[in-house]
Amino acid sequence: MKNLHLLLSLILISTTTVTATATAVDSGSSPTVCIIGAGIGGSSVAHFLRRYSTSEIGTIRILERNDVVGGRMATVTISGQTFEAGASILHPKNYHALNYTKYLNLSVRQPPRSESDSCFGIWNGRNFVFKTLSSSSNFPIFQRVVSFANSVLIFFRYGFSLFRMNSFVDSTVSNFLKYYEGFESRPVFETAEEMLKWSGLYNLTTRTLQEELIDANLSPRLIEELATVITRINYGQSMSISGLAGAVSLAGSSPDLWSVEGGNRRMAVELINHSDVKLHLNEEVKSVSFIEQKYQLNTTKGKSYQCGITVVATPLDELKIQFIPGISIPERKLQHTYTTFIRGVLNPAYFGLGSVSEIPQLIGTVETPDVPFSSISVLKQHKENDMSYKVFSRKPLDDELLDRIFSVRNETVKIDWAAYPHYHAPEVFAPFILDGQHLYYVNAFENAASTMETSAVAAENIARLILSRLTGEIPSSSVELKSFGDDADDVHSDL
Ligand SMILES: Cc1cc2nc3c(=O)[nH]c(=O)nc-3n(C[C@H](O)[C@H](O)[C@H](O)COP(=O)(O)OP(=O)(O)OC[C@H]3O[C@@H](n4cnc5c(N)ncnc54)[C@H](O)[C@@H]3O)c2cc1C
Ligand SMILES: *[C@@H]1O[C@H](CO)[C@@H](O)[C@H](O)[C@H]1NC(C)=O
Ligand SMILES: *[C@@H]1O[C@H](CO)[C@@H](O)[C@H](O)[C@H]1NC(C)=O
Ligand SMILES: *[C@@H]1O[C@H](CO)[C@@H](O)[C@H](O)[C@H]1NC(C)=O
Ligand SMILES: *[C@@H]1O[C@H](CO)[C@@H](O)[C@H](O)[C@H]1NC(C)=O
Ligand SMILES: *[C@@H]1O[C@H](CO)[C@@H](O)[C@H](O)[C@H]1NC(C)=O
Ligand SMILES: *[C@@H]1O[C@H](CO)[C@@H](O)[C@H](O)[C@H]1NC(C)=O
Repeated sequence: MKNLHLLLSLILISTTTVTATATAVDSGSSPTVCIIGAGIGGSSVAHFLRRYSTSEIGTIRILERNDVVGGRMATVTISGQTFEAGASILHPKNYHALNYTKYLNLSVRQPPRSESDSCFGIWNGRNFVFKTLSSSSNFPIFQRVVSFANSVLIFFRYGFSLFRMNSFVDSTVSNFLKYYEGFESRPVFETAEEMLKWSGLYNLTTRTLQEELIDANLSPRLIEELATVITRINYGQSMSISGLAGAVSLAGSSPDLWSVEGGNRRMAVELINHSDVKLHLNEEVKSVSFIEQKYQLNTTKGKSYQCGITVVATPLDELKIQFIPGISIPERKLQHTYTTFIRGVLNPAYFGLGSVSEIPQLIGTVETPDVPFSSISVLKQHKENDMSYKVFSRKPLDDELLDRIFSVRNETVKIDWAAYPHYHAPEVFAPFILDGQHLYYVNAFENAASTMETSAVAAENIARLILSRLTGEIPSSSVELKSFGDDADDVHSDL
């Protein structure tokens, strides 16, 4: 991977080195915390700051450039029906998300049984190399027979490698569960590396998924087909992503996945609503200047906010926020995922099939330049030849191509997501504390994996880090900070 270790336009003119101990924030009154971004990360920071403190925190402001809360948790409406447009599935062991759902009186939505038994196929651009059976029957007994037959089919193709893949995922999940331990046994982490080393997950970020799965003794066929298909669906990327992002992606194919009724974004909406937050929608932060021990945040509305503490809860990689003095973080590319929603019907001829009913409800793809999309799935079947579909691709799909894949296309909605980091191994992490003072970065953890839950876990640690450095309970020590210029005229890097 190119430019892996390249630091972003770093300007080092400084003679002073920032000391690891932060200077007190506005001694006396409780500091204002400004959070940039109203996704699950920003809303979770607000929630945990309120939950873990009584008087240490003053006003909490969340600045959000969109006109809605949720960020990459969003819904899309096609022909009057609402679907998840971004983050759609949660794992049964995503305990923050589960707890939010309970605490906020939201409801869990589980996919109906028939959905999980729907036909799944692996497309290589010429034919389906593998296909399960589908049960169109409404009788539970037939569904169970089909479900059993599908397990047998999958086992015949991939054999015991399936169990090895499961145990690779299970052991990763069980390490991750350490992040839910109580404060007695779980330290506050000052860096993502430290956080990952403590749970035993760090090594997985230093090697590719491919290397990890070969070491775990998985068959080449399972790696090239099933594991590749899942990783292309969940991260739009190949087996060269890190082992950790890969394990998280594979965990996203477990049974018992769930989502929040009414949209996952409701978690962020309700967290903010219950955390005594001043929410500023349609307000993009343009600059963050550290002046006289305070951060001055200027926004596109021409407003200026004074904050004792500032939390960046969005990936900085494609943003143009000006930091004064400048900050430095490792270069990171985001993987764009184009999500195309279509009401209509697929064209069986494109897949070399005779009828629509032969087309699998979930089409996964292998890593080949011949296939212009990563996956196509049926979101809902309205009538026999009337469905809502979701297509993922790494590049935008033009109408000419869509007209070959679909025979009827009554409504099309296209979304270009700066979706998640483009993963590689070894991963390099930005610091949680960007300036050695009180400027924090939740999405530094996104190089580990990008999910709603990992954002919540990172946010919880950032909230504890803020409070511990504020009250001085936990001495901030061993973090190695790079030196930054302290001359605002000379030092600023445009991110
Ligand atoms: C297509 C897709 C599918 C996915 N599927 C899943 C899935 O099934 N399960 C899962 O767990 N995860 C999934 N993810 C990943 C998941 O969406 C993210 O990891 C998670 O939502 C990130 O939350 P966040 O709060 O860290 O960032 P975001 O949700 O990106 O929030 C950042 C917010 O900051 C705002 N912002 C940015 N710049 C500024 C500025 N200068 N001033 C003010 N506001 C600003 C943005 O508008 C945004 O609202 C998926 C992502 C995509 C794109
Ligand atoms: C769930 O959230 C509630 C309310 O914030 C909190 O009291 C409880 O301790 C949380 N449980 C876990 C397991 O985090
Ligand atoms: C959830 O509902 C219960 C019972 O109706 C109520 O007591 C509680 O305050 C609600 N919680 C929130 C966060 O609104
Ligand atoms: C991670 O790798 C290092 C170096 O190879 C090794 O010493 C360490 O034991 C490994 N840690 C875990 C948790 O596997
Ligand atoms: C916010 O919470 C209050 C109760 O605390 C509730 O009455 C109100 O409907 C909520 N607003 C939204 C937008 O959910
Ligand atoms: C931010 O706004 C204030 C007040 O309008 C202004 O004095 C300052 O120069 C602005 N800072 C930047 C970096 O634009
Ligand atoms: C598409 O629209 C046409 C005309 O409105 C309608 O007859 C047809 O049933 C629709 N088909 C689908 C698949 O939505």
